[in-house]
Amino acid sequence: MSNVFYLSASKNYPEAVRAEGVWIWDGDGKRYMDGSGGACVVSIGHGVAEVRAAALAQMDAISFAHRSQFTTAACEELSRRVAALSPDPELDRVHFVSGGSEAVESAVKLARHYWRAVGRPDRYKVISRWTSYHGNTAGALALGGHTGRRSPYQPLILHTPHVEPCYCYRCPYGRTPADCGLLCAEALDRAISYEGPESVAAFIAEPVVGATAGALVPPDGYWQRVREICDRHQILLIADEVMTGAGRTGKPLALEHWGVHADLVVLAKGLSSGYAPLGAVLVRRAIHDAVRDGSGGFTHGHTYGQHPVAAAVGAAVLRYLEEHALVARSARLGAHLLERLREMADHPLVGDVRGLGLFAGVELVADKDSREPFEARHKVAAKVAAAAFARGLITYPGDGGADGIRGDHLLLCPPFCVTEEEIGFLVQTLGEALDDGAAALRRQR
Ligand SMILES: Cc1ncc(COP(=O)(O)O)c(C=O)c1O
Repeated sequence: MSNVFYLSASKNYPEAVRAEGVWIWDGDGKRYMDGSGGACVVSIGHGVAEVRAAALAQMDAISFAHRSQFTTAACEELSRRVAALSPDPELDRVHFVSGGSEAVESAVKLARHYWRAVGRPDRYKVISRWTSYHGNTAGALALGGHTGRRSPYQPLILHTPHVEPCYCYRCPYGRTPADCGLLCAEALDRAISYEGPESVAAFIAEPVVGATAGALVPPDGYWQRVREICDRHQILLIADEVMTGAGRTGKPLALEHWGVHADLVVLAKGLSSGYAPLGAVLVRRAIHDAVRDGSGGFTHGHTYGQHPVAAAVGAAVLRYLEEHALVARSARLGAHLLERLREMADHPLVGDVRGLGLFAGVELVADKDSREPFEARHKVAAKVAAAAFARGLITYPGDGGADGIRGDHLLLCPPFCVTEEEIGFLVQTLGEALDDGAAALRRQR
């Protein structure tokens, strides 16, 4: 009997005992390829000695100093390295927290703080998108657009404005990228007008949607249009780069694919590659200065913000990323992964294969022609992921992408050190797991 309050009460979790590169071993000696970096977390790979050394050195020096009392060399270095992720020199202040949800909440509160500081306390609404995920704390959950995750907590979360996602495979307007005129971006413009631009503080979105839909890559022009709309209405743009940031899509920040700079960039996951709980908000200097000149500081924070060991780990991860040119590697190996995954397009369960860098999604459908999703009760993505796990491949399944409840996908986002041979294993094993899933569905019918 275990005392752990596990995620699932019905599942037996093997004990993870060791990891190296893209591989994890359990207590029985079974080897798994970490094809999803956990939940799109592990970026530089498992078992990097330099990160261990940095954490130990920091612990030897000092493990904890509260951010209300001290700064540390580790957090100074990390803030320089985080600022350097963006080519925009005005994005240069960094607020540290312990994870993605905290970082989202911090970005939203900072946007609110900013508008109060510049004498516009009427600006408080934050617009977000359906089919998105911003975290599980109440504020972040309210902004997210995943019905299954939100509905149990509905009475506890704020009702905030949401617009349609940029989801070309299931275009909410029934168009194709060739003829859509970016109606999904225009929806933001309309929502702002209906809400009243003077009441809107910010728009938050994932540059490439991850957990709720499996790597939704927008067409060129979408993000440029969104930036233009935000500027026209003087609304802050918050990029939630918790999954896509720190090199995952083949650029240091995903919005760089479209030459767009946000006002606040939310980071976590790959920032520390999972070696320590770490999140951050990269902030435009003008926002920082307005808050400083207004109330004197940001009335917000968490005990472990700026944690010295987490900061040392983050700095070591970003140093390693640079020294081993891993962002370029993510772009190169990501293109290879996508090419190999596209070989599966004919599989009866596969509706769409998409991605950017080492951030790929495979959407599973009941009918390839009509794109009809499976009924949620079949839990198809979870079944395929379980079959892959049994065969030694870890994927990150998700549901609800199609309409909040139905829709199945798998995220494939291995560490950037993955080799072409390991991608070969991933594709081969995923193919076998899809066959297992199809066979299980046939038995069920
Ligand atoms: C885009 C995005 N934002 C926020 C979060 C929340 O991060 P955390 O689980 O670290 O709180 C996630 C987690 O998956 C995410 O994918």
